Amino acid sequence: MIDAEDEVGFTDIYVDDDIVERVTDVLRSTRYVKGPELASFESAFADACGVDHAVGVNSGTAAILLSLQAAGVGPGDEVFVPGNTFFATASPVLNLGATPVFVDVDPETYTMDPKDFAAKAEDAENPTAVVPVHIYGHLVDVEAVLAVAADYDLAVIEDACQAHFAERDGHVAGTVGDAGAFSFYPSKNMTVAGDGGMLVTDDDELAATARQLRNHGRDESGTHQSLGLNHRLDEVKAAVGNEQLRHIDDWNEARNSAAQQYTDRLATIPEVTTPHEADDAFHVYHLYVIQVPAEERDEFREYLDERGIQTSLHYETPLHEHPVMVERVGETTLPVTEELYERIVSLPMHPRITDDELDRVCAAIEDYFETEACEESR
Ligand SMILES: Cc1ncc(COP(=O)(O)O)c(C=O)c1O
Repeated sequence: MIDAEDEVGFTDIYVDDDIVERVTDVLRSTRYVKGPELASFESAFADACGVDHAVGVNSGTAAILLSLQAAGVGPGDEVFVPGNTFFATASPVLNLGATPVFVDVDPETYTMDPKDFAAKAEDAENPTAVVPVHIYGHLVDVEAVLAVAADYDLAVIEDACQAHFAERDGHVAGTVGDAGAFSFYPSKNMTVAGDGGMLVTDDDELAATARQLRNHGRDESGTHQSLGLNHRLDEVKAAVGNEQLRHIDDWNEARNSAAQQYTDRLATIPEVTTPHEADDAFHVYHLYVIQVPAEERDEFREYLDERGIQTSLHYETPLHEHPVMVERVGETTLPVTEELYERIVSLPMHPRITDDELDRVCAAIEDYFETEACEESR
């Protein structure tokens, strides 16, 4: 049995006295919605991204939903989404009455494959938008995706929920399309200590529409102009966001450097495929995802678990295979995504992971494959 303090945790959430004091100040102020914390969080987040507008909302899912809705996506529209992503990339599409079209992923970066995107766009009857996902913290091939989107005049809504301030080819996640969506769910690279999200854009009209939609579609005069819901980000959460934002660059650097340590060591194990970083990419490693032989994955995870090392799967089921997607969209085959889903394992990753913890994870993986090799040669 491993003592709890000897476990290598999958993630770790940061709380300090500054956060606690700031939250306490908000609680004492009794101003809980639409107040100064939200205004300053939006302005600081927009500045940090280098965009004109940031609209705080109550989840990453809401940020995707409102981006699509504000971009005019509705019934009958087709929206391209990658197969390798969380459910919430596509559920807003269905909630707006539009149809997701699933696209396969690049075998190296695991992000949307621009070639498959182009092929699916050519076959589509009513292509309207694309939601590229910067999965695990690595940007999609932005130039290639934007080129296909331009050919079909598609709105580009980036799902940057796992990629706060990741970069590629000089582009910052969330800032290259019509709008970008971020999540502040507790395990994300930065959090608001609960659910929260941000929509960023340079488009004045899209920002104004999203602001209205997040507040019941209500305009300044108090009348309801559009069919919005309550998607507001409240003051306590925004206060936490303001404090967390001060650390995000350091945290991303720490994640990236932990990832380099993993990769340097694990790349020598033939059975393990380590994550790929495109040239000129800054990967923020929301997740550090390796591939292992499919037939050994369960045993491998169990071996690490017995040594107190937590692992996870992102995800267990490809997006297009979830029952509700099959029911609403029909069967789709995405060979690269499907093969990947048999092999992926997410290793512990967070900014405060220690050298000792990284060493323990790598040593356990080395031991596992050495033992396997010995058993096979017997
Ligand atoms: C890729 C991706 N898209 C969308 C979401 C939805 O964000 P949230 O959980 O904040 O609604 C998440 C987070 O869970 C995510 O990882």
